[in-house]
Amino acid sequence: MDHLDSFSDELLRSFFDELRLDTQNFLHAATPFDETAYRTNVAALKAKPLPLQGRPLQDVIHDIRGTILPGSIHQHHKNYIAFPDKGSYAAAQYAAMLSAFTNQNLIADAKSAPTATYVEMLVISWLRELIGYKTSSGIPAHALDLGGAMVTGGTLANTLGLLGARQHAYPESKTEGMMALRKTPKIFVAGSTISHYSHYGASWWLGFGTDNVVEVACDSQGRMDQTDLSRKLADSLSRGAQPVAIVAVMGDSRTNTLEDLPGLYHISQRFGVWLHADACHGGVLAFDQQATTAGKHILSYADSIAMDPHKQLGAPYSSSVILFKDPKHLAAIGSSTDITIARGSSDIGQITPFLGSKPFDALKLYALFEALGVDGICKSIHARQQITKHWHTLLAESEHFMPLHTPDLFAQAFTLKPGRMNADQLSEKNAQLHDTLYTNGTVVVNKFSLRDYRNLLPYGRGNKITCLGSTIGSDAYTDDDLRAMLHVLEQTTTDIG
Ligand SMILES: Cc1ncc(COP(=O)(O)O)c(C=O)c1O
Repeated sequence: MDHLDSFSDELLRSFFDELRLDTQNFLHAATPFDETAYRTNVAALKAKPLPLQGRPLQDVIHDIRGTILPGSIHQHHKNYIAFPDKGSYAAAQYAAMLSAFTNQNLIADAKSAPTATYVEMLVISWLRELIGYKTSSGIPAHALDLGGAMVTGGTLANTLGLLGARQHAYPESKTEGMMALRKTPKIFVAGSTISHYSHYGASWWLGFGTDNVVEVACDSQGRMDQTDLSRKLADSLSRGAQPVAIVAVMGDSRTNTLEDLPGLYHISQRFGVWLHADACHGGVLAFDQQATTAGKHILSYADSIAMDPHKQLGAPYSSSVILFKDPKHLAAIGSSTDITIARGSSDIGQITPFLGSKPFDALKLYALFEALGVDGICKSIHARQQITKHWHTLLAESEHFMPLHTPDLFAQAFTLKPGRMNADQLSEKNAQLHDTLYTNGTVVVNKFSLRDYRNLLPYGRGNKITCLGSTIGSDAYTDDDLRAMLHVLEQTTTDIG
């Protein structure tokens, strides 16, 4: 078997030459998607027999080059605006590659991740410091006081926030299991098309049950209607249920609308309920030290926060974080029940629920912090907000399109102008435009259903349509770039008639 450590310098050089070639071709692709290559590649993969005999590395590389890379999506491409997950920030990519080569396992300190353990502890501490969660400076002396962890994906980060809420509400559930949930638990989430499916998934996986997820009405800005929330909290208490958590979306996936977290905090305090912030998109606000209310960073109002640097910070997958305001809440749900883990251990695997072996994802965040600094990241966020506002204006001025909200962050949902179409016809037309664009591969946008909470369409407030979605995933867009994309959207609209 070819192990890299047995390679001569010469072999290593040609190994990296191959990698460079694939990276170069992939990064410099002319369009974000090649539909023909995709169809050919998938047909070949479906027909592929189980490889009984191995092949030389060079053949494997050629196979991957021909049958997988051409049909893959190029999220880094400027004309890919479906999701923000660019993943192509150079420092983070370098760190990701090194993380694979160095193969540190952050389950434990000394034998599997000496040094790397302290990188994760450092980036978690930096994030806590930015948000204002942190009370003392520097890395804590032991893992139990860290108050955060890198995890694989925002879905898991949200699940861990709600696990913290469950442990807080039902401390006996650790030993008694579901029998400890003597009162029916209730989880409060935003209305449909704003809440994320992971809020329902987590409620199921954690034993709350999806029937106990309460949807709160959305106001005319797509935020939780706080009067409705208070009423529903009071109602569930009066029925003998136990409100366990409010999930506030700090930037939903479709419109990136930011909740009024301080406002929700006051309600959560009044009812004694945990406040979890799904900040998978809005977690970048941690770097904006002006994002404060009453002298405190807005994110600091949450008891737990899920963040996804792989969405908004240019880090490749996976790069997700869960933070707890009070570190003891993470320690309380830590993986290990082994009391021999003395305080003083820096085995961060012990405080990371659901995971065993754990990759060195922290290196990507470390490289980002070092390369840009807090100031650089903040400037980049502000630049992207400005570009998104400009994109909003261009869409609003367009003959064919209309934006469906004013952007808080980087996402802009939009639709073809309704004209005389009814809601179904408009949805169908938007879907057709999306599919044609995807097949052509020149500009890739998203498609999803959205409730018109802002009442901008002629179908009644809150009516659901299928619309188009876009996200400005980097600060490198110029006015020309945006106009060129809009031109493709308009031309394709004309072509489909
Ligand atoms: C608002 C929101 N929360 C959570 C998630 C889940 O994140 P991940 O895909 O990293 O699991 C997403 C992903 O789209 C999201 O948009």
